[in-house]
Amino acid sequence: MGKMTKRRLGNSVISAFLLIGVIFVPIGLASLSASKEIVELVDRYDTSCVSVADKVGFIQNSKTDKTCTRTLTVPRHMKSPIHIYYQIGDFYQNHRRYVKSRSDKQLRYKEAAHLTKDCEPEGNTADGAPIVPCGLIAWSLFNDTYTVSVNKKAVEVNKKDIAWQSDKNNKFGSNVYPSNFQKGNLIGGAKLNESIPLSEQEDLIVWMRTAALPTFRKLYGRIETDIMENDQLTVVIQNNYNTYSFGGSKALVLSTTSWIGGKNNFIGIAYLTIGGLCIFLAVVFIVLYMIKPRYVMFPRV
Ligand SMILES: *[C@@H]1O[C@H](CO)[C@@H](O)[C@H](O)[C@H]1NC(C)=O
Repeated sequence: MGKMTKRRLGNSVISAFLLIGVIFVPIGLASLSASKEIVELVDRYDTSCVSVADKVGFIQNSKTDKTCTRTLTVPRHMKSPIHIYYQIGDFYQNHRRYVKSRSDKQLRYKEAAHLTKDCEPEGNTADGAPIVPCGLIAWSLFNDTYTVSVNKKAVEVNKKDIAWQSDKNNKFGSNVYPSNFQKGNLIGGAKLNESIPLSEQEDLIVWMRTAALPTFRKLYGRIETDIMENDQLTVVIQNNYNTYSFGGSKALVLSTTSWIGGKNNFIGIAYLTIGGLCIFLAVVFIVLYMIKPRYVMFPRV
């Protein structure tokens, strides 16, 4: 009697391991192959785009020409839509003081423009007028720009719908307009067009969804035509943003997409590892079972 129950329990454990294995291994393989299909180009440009030794001085000088041309050869056919991201390294957007330096009420409601308490030192102008959008996050808005051409022909970069629809609808007001923004002595980043409501300022909305990790990518725009293998891709960069003073980095990323999102082998490998381990354990149990059925689940009976 006792022996029977043990054996049945053992069987169900083995079946569970097998089942997980049989489900996870194909998911892992599918994820890996989707990730392998994705074509991704990463071009770090912050160092190459400033040839002088005093990089901080160069970037802070408003008179220097910040134009920088990068040429890349496309290794494989890239199917549209091709996403363009900027990638910043060693930028602590998750720093406690930084991440709290914003006013969500102000971003959403016209009447809340004066709620700048959490935004210091970017809350109010020198003469006390509220800055909209206030705070360090908005103030440090990324301001490099990219124009793209393929085989010397200009290609349109669509910057519409780069932000989450829910952010546009619920977090940024359609009747809230920028004011007093980036007017101080120290310019932190991009300026905003004051005739466009915050709900339509998609670069800002993307930027304000702060990244949890110090190296992050943010969507810049999309190219809606295919690019062929061996095409010459030229990107003219306005290299404005100052990552030099804190030792950060900047890279341009072009990537095709699939159901798995961007290029990412980790998900596939994780599924394969877990699935493979389960099948391995199931096999081990089966073998042990055949040798000594009694000791499989309860070695200390
Ligand atoms: C871009 O941002 C930097 C700070 O990162 C600032 O010094 C510069 O003036 C800004 N340039 C433009 C053109 O917005």
